Amino acid sequence: MLFDIRPKSSRSDLFDRENELRELDRAVDHGRPLTLVLGIRRIGKTSLVKAFLGERRGLYLDARGVSRRSELYERIGDGLYSSLSRVRRLLEGIRGVSFSAAGVEVRWRGSDSVSFMGLLQEINRRGERFILVVDEVQSLKPPLSAELRNLIAYSYDNLENISLVISGSEIGLLRSFLGVDNPSSPLYGRYVHEVHVERFSGGLSREFLVEGFKEEGLKPPGKTIEEAVELFDGIVGWLVFFGRSYADGTRNISRIFDMAVNLALEELKKLNEREKIILKAIAEGADSWSRVRSLVSEKRGIVLPKSTLTRIIDKLEMMSIVKDYEFLDPIYREACRKLRP
Ligand SMILES: Nc1ncnc2c1ncn2[C@@H]1O[C@H](COP(=O)(O)OP(=O)(O)O)[C@@H](O)[C@H]1O
Ligand SMILES: [Mg+2]
Repeated sequence: MLFDIRPKSSRSDLFDRENELRELDRAVDHGRPLTLVLGIRRIGKTSLVKAFLGERRGLYLDARGVSRRSELYERIGDGLYSSLSRVRRLLEGIRGVSFSAAGVEVRWRGSDSVSFMGLLQEINRRGERFILVVDEVQSLKPPLSAELRNLIAYSYDNLENISLVISGSEIGLLRSFLGVDNPSSPLYGRYVHEVHVERFSGGLSREFLVEGFKEEGLKPPGKTIEEAVELFDGIVGWLVFFGRSYADGTRNISRIFDMAVNLALEELKKLNEREKIILKAIAEGADSWSRVRSLVSEKRGIVLPKSTLTRIIDKLEMMSIVKDYEFLDPIYREACRKLRP
């Protein structure tokens, strides 16, 4: 179902994205050690990588919200369990890994345990290609972030049968996490293949909505479809949100838009006051460094130090919220207008 709000997990559930799938197939079949899947939030990265992994041997790991080592190993176990039919043979006989009907258990402490690194080394020894997908890896905090970075670098250099696919919404932060441009990073200077997940064109958005509504047995007025295509700017996650809400009975499109804006507002809560002030200024039309500075000063009576302003704008760009003083997602622009810092 296209309007299922969970990430899609098989190629047959995926709308379009044939080029991206082909690119991933090619990268992995050519034995590329590391591929990045980049795109803003809700653009369909998780769906793409999960669908890609669908029929292949590998492990999907969601790094969001992982702050303790125990959680990391739980996620590893869950990921292996969900692709057990394809990976079981590779895992058999690995110390510290056991199967039951209920799941895969990875013992990571004490005797007969295995580290994540050890697990990958064992899998690599089996001599068959194995794909490790890590989603939103830039969200990890120390010390796990450094461990994962080292693991990725080690695998890149030494584990020829492991293909890493790393995806993330905060594109600048992800690149800086990996540190391919940073001489002190273990991944410095490594070649990284990038797959960019882009928004749908107007035509594709329209097709997506019409097809999705057909599955729901609905045919909304053409005007409603056009409005949604306009408002949600080809971001598939918002198109799904719209389609699902409409199909569930909310027929007022501005109401659905407001619900989407409120979701974005929730996500913006994690930002600090200065970041919010600056985003609000950009949302209100300040389209250059000096305009942001003077608008903040005018409206709030705060003169931001030059270096502070530069640093914060850089960070907001690294988080893929804005680029060149424009929002990458119109829903976020609207949400930032509503911020009350
Ligand atoms: N190609 C696609 N076809 C159909 N639905 C999709 C597609 N890509 C994403 N979606 C839907 O859009 C929403 C956001 O997708 P997700 O993969 O979680 O995005 P991201 O990981 O980039 O934030 C989900 O509801 C998902 O089901
Ligand atoms: Mg995702």
